[in-house]
Amino acid sequence: MPSSPESPANAAISESAVDAAVEAALAAVAAASDTAALKAAKSAHAGESSPLASLNATLRDVPADQKAALGKLVGQARGRVAQAVAAREAELAEAEEHARLAAEAIDVTGIPPLRTAGARHPLTTLMEDMSDIFIAMGWEVDEGPELENDWFNFDALNFAPDHPARAMQDTFFIEPVDRHLILRTHTSPVQSRSMLSRGVPLYIVAPGRVYRTDELDATHTPVFHQMEGIAIDKGLTMAHLRGALEHLARALFGEGARIRLRPSYFPVTEPSAELDVWHPTFRDGPRWIEWGGCGMVNPNVLRSAGIDPEVYQGFAFGMGIERTLMFRNGVSDMRDMVEGDVRFSQQFGLVV
Ligand code: DAH
Repeated sequence: MPSSPESPANAAISESAVDAAVEAALAAVAAASDTAALKAAKSAHAGESSPLASLNATLRDVPADQKAALGKLVGQARGRVAQAVAAREAELAEAEEHARLAAEAIDVTGIPPLRTAGARHPLTTLMEDMSDIFIAMGWEVDEGPELENDWFNFDALNFAPDHPARAMQDTFFIEPVDRHLILRTHTSPVQSRSMLSRGVPLYIVAPGRVYRTDELDATHTPVFHQMEGIAIDKGLTMAHLRGALEHLARALFGEGARIRLRPSYFPVTEPSAELDVWHPTFRDGPRWIEWGGCGMVNPNVLRSAGIDPEVYQGFAFGMGIERTLMFRNGVSDMRDMVEGDVRFSQQFGLVV
């Protein structure tokens, strides 16, 4: 290698040696495919220990009459290499900048990935709307466990152990049965729980999930929702029950809504009534629709919570939420409510 100025014999300076060094340098520069490779080529062919630098160092040993010509030769050669390096540097920098910009490019006209915001289920919003109507009248919202003791679900509500009314509701029993746990068949057990935990006077609604051994079809589902209401105070009568339910009906179905009570039987109330609502904007025209059950709280129920029926009276009501949503919003198949297809919920608006 003609690298050392101390060994001029090895580095005989000649036009062909300079040309060879230039050619090698230009080839290496052209072959450099990125700035790192170019940096290496630059140091090998234009750096202090490059062949051209070595040839340059031998200039001091050449005879004086050739010095100017050879000096010019090496100088031009180094200039060409430096120029080639600079040009390639610019080329690569531009290419790398382009590649970076291309990688960062965003198509502002592209269709963004569809991300749907979550929304509350219409059953949830309906329960909240119904609760709000009562909250506005000073009532409170309560809730009880879905895994309920059968005493709260039946006995406390005046369903005697051998009472045929127990069979009215198809119960999911939890094993072992001697623990007396069931999936609550209605929200009525919250009546007793609230009476015991809050005392009187009492004004609560209790929306929530209930269970019955029904097959899923267009009008039944084994898991559904109810809203219970109970008011206990001195001097409450059926007129107060009527007033509360009529207010609820108007708030949900419009000012033209009315309610109708038909004599009926429920263990929890005496007297008891079926509750019908006059739906003024029903999709097939205005009509009466069966909505729920209600009545004056049975004195036995008050007594089971330690309340003296001679001093306090109460009224209570309960209705299905799925059913309410169906006839309020014209949903014809209950299965649409339970399948969890977001398109169903979206029809009701994305209330978050
Ligand atoms: N718990 C009854 C049911 O699920 C509905 C009901 C009827 C609730 C009368 C009441 C009531 O509060 O007074 O069928």
